[in-house]
Amino acid sequence: MWNSLQDSRKKTEERKIAALFEDANRATDFSIQTDGLLLDYSKTNLDTDQRAALIALTKDVGPRRDAMFRGEKINETEGRAVLHTALRQLEGSTTDATLVVDGTDILAEVREVYDRMRVFAHHIRSGAWQGEGGRVTDVVNIGIGGSDLGPAMAVLALAPYADGPKCHFVSNVDGADLQDTLQGLNPKTTLIVVASKTFTTQETMMNAHTALQWMQGECIDPMRQFVAISSALDQTKVFGIADENVFGFGNWIGGRYSVWGPIGLSLMLAIGPGGFADFLKGGLAMDQHFSSAPPEQNMPVLLALVGLWHHKFCGYATRAVIPYEHRLRRLPAYLQQLEMESNGKGVGLDGKSLLHGGGPVVWGEPGTNGQHAFFQLLHQGCDVVPVEFLIGAKGHEVDLTHHHEALVANCLAQSEALLRGRTLGKARNMLKDNVSDGDVNRLASHRVFSGNRPSITLAYPKLSPFVLGQIIALYEHRVFVEGVVLGLNSFDQWGVELGKELASEFIPAVAGKSSPENTTASTQSLLDYVHGHRNG
Ligand code: F6P
Repeated sequence: MWNSLQDSRKKTEERKIAALFEDANRATDFSIQTDGLLLDYSKTNLDTDQRAALIALTKDVGPRRDAMFRGEKINETEGRAVLHTALRQLEGSTTDATLVVDGTDILAEVREVYDRMRVFAHHIRSGAWQGEGGRVTDVVNIGIGGSDLGPAMAVLALAPYADGPKCHFVSNVDGADLQDTLQGLNPKTTLIVVASKTFTTQETMMNAHTALQWMQGECIDPMRQFVAISSALDQTKVFGIADENVFGFGNWIGGRYSVWGPIGLSLMLAIGPGGFADFLKGGLAMDQHFSSAPPEQNMPVLLALVGLWHHKFCGYATRAVIPYEHRLRRLPAYLQQLEMESNGKGVGLDGKSLLHGGGPVVWGEPGTNGQHAFFQLLHQGCDVVPVEFLIGAKGHEVDLTHHHEALVANCLAQSEALLRGRTLGKARNMLKDNVSDGDVNRLASHRVFSGNRPSITLAYPKLSPFVLGQIIALYEHRVFVEGVVLGLNSFDQWGVELGKELASEFIPAVAGKSSPENTTASTQSLLDYVHGHRNG
């Protein structure tokens, strides 16, 4: 199937996407709707036969998806189940529903922690729980990667629903991040949430210790204002956080899939338990769609297949995610971890090099800002980059509907422009009245757009907690489908380990307390440079 898809692509490489719209049903046939979401993938160079061939690649997806939902250990390289979906199941199941992993009913565990989170959030938001200086005004989430990107992205995205304390996020080990965040905050009314699955991550622990020192200067009992979210209860004890202030979660929730559970505490504090429940319901709705819709009507499956088509058969090495929603400006960063930490692999489940390679590079920025930065390359550059647009039919700013109209217009215009392009003839016509005949040709060629550049658009009614839940679960399942088709494990991340190990080795060297072993001359000379300037 793979080879015949390659042949098919070769034969249709020169085809114009615009020509595919001669089929009057193209827009509806190449789009999917579920629970108010619309995924339009008609502006791609994909025809019905090619789509059917792509769908044939997904024969293992159904069984593996069901195994995931059942709690089987599909994360084979770590011997773990993959059950972030269980976190949203709470909003759709009765209290006697069970899901047993290793002899333990994990739904009961999840429910217990979820209930504690809700009570805690209620107490913080109502002022029933107070800091040394009174009601909690600010929450600082200290975490990195999956313990930061999910809640940080979601708190920003759902700002119109925020009616709790102000949430801040510190992730970088660069002291500037912590310093700039704590500046102006009152330690006596600040709650510190240390979010780390392992509770050993260097950046997070360093930031947590420094935040503790900051509080120690002002508070009598600073540890009371510390909360931990972690799977490592032994480590949270060592740090000194009381057990009742620890929200635990099982190792069957991967970091980049963890926003739905305790790692989402800061989101729950910001928008309240009701809003958080709606977020889970959105994720659950997508789970149900993913589990039940036939492949050709299955949004995560088609999203994954279009991505595979572009990356593996058309040879486009990267894809751009462009949300036309300013509050989704951290979505590209969130998706970079979700997609690239999951599928940025070279080895398959069988331990052998992947036959067709791993997932693509994902990048992006919100529209319209990106238009005035890198869209030049998207329209006229030599590398084709498929674009994934996201757009809401409605904005939240009821007095600024004209802004939203302009936003939607820009989003639609960009996907049309990418597809249509501009011919030399048109460019010449535009110039001919103002430019001498001699210059027309030379100048017109700069104004030509090849067009025929693919894009997809995900449209949603309005960015609510439910819709955000749908979108995030959609992308999670897309990553899953892509991983299954490529034959890799989307749920480990061994690739981040070596850099972590070397960083620990280099810390004493940077501090001038040791000399690193087996270091290249390049790194040694950079160290010498740093030492020279630090001591200068
Ligand atoms: O970057 C590697 C990683 O393990 C991510 O997968 C994870 O989200 C992040 O570090 C943070 O890890 P932790 O939650 O254990 O601090």
